[in-house]
Amino acid sequence: MTTRLGVNIDHVATLRQVRQGHDPEPIAAALIAQSAGASGIMAHLRADRQHIQDRDARLLKEVLSVPLNVACAASPDAMESVIPVKPHWVTLVPENRDELIAPGGLDVVFLQAHLRQFIRELHTTDIRVCLFIDPQTEQVKMVSRLEADAVELNTGHYSNLPEGADATQELDRLRESSKLASRLGLRVSAGRGLTLRNAAPVAALPEIDELNIGHSIVARAMLIGMERAVQEMLGVIREGQA
Ligand code: PXP
Repeated sequence: MTTRLGVNIDHVATLRQVRQGHDPEPIAAALIAQSAGASGIMAHLRADRQHIQDRDARLLKEVLSVPLNVACAASPDAMESVIPVKPHWVTLVPENRDELIAPGGLDVVFLQAHLRQFIRELHTTDIRVCLFIDPQTEQVKMVSRLEADAVELNTGHYSNLPEGADATQELDRLRESSKLASRLGLRVSAGRGLTLRNAAPVAALPEIDELNIGHSIVARAMLIGMERAVQEMLGVIREGQA
């Protein structure tokens, strides 16, 4: 099975928000990513709306033919914004107002009672639910117990290893967690910090169905265009699987 690529377009919107104007248009970027081979589009609707806005989420759902995956916090406000959009997937992620990006995954063991109500609410409206977690056995088992549909494994710790460091341990954690999640019947994706240099070994893990990649692709797109940036990443994913 070929690993699919979900393109996270948050940082196209980040650039637009700097001037509070129209450019660059994240919807256009998503459509180009889709035609270049992305299997899905991800966007994070943050509580502080630092990048993606409600209008972006609505328009993405309307115009895309690939699945839309909206990441958001597990909070009543986030549910109120995301449910009317009816994305194919909602990925629940940790969110911290002070940080641009929270470094870890959701602690689903600690938050189980809190998460259960939101998972139920999303299921009631036919939205599939993914939980973004660190690759740890207890976390994966809890995602299954909470009856979520999918797990996204945080590759942030792997991606943050210093250049030249031995990645065996982090890759083993991703391998073991992806195997367990798949055995438990969960769809498995992974992402955070993946780049042209480090994505291939993660793409090589057979249970991982999709990689969600944003910053690296959007950064490359500034230099070589969105279409080529997506195709370049797809090339690296295919090489990883060869
Ligand atoms: N997966 C999730 C759950 C995310 O929230 C993000 C972006 O914040 C990504 C993947 C993509 O990460 P990156 O931009 O580092 O590629």
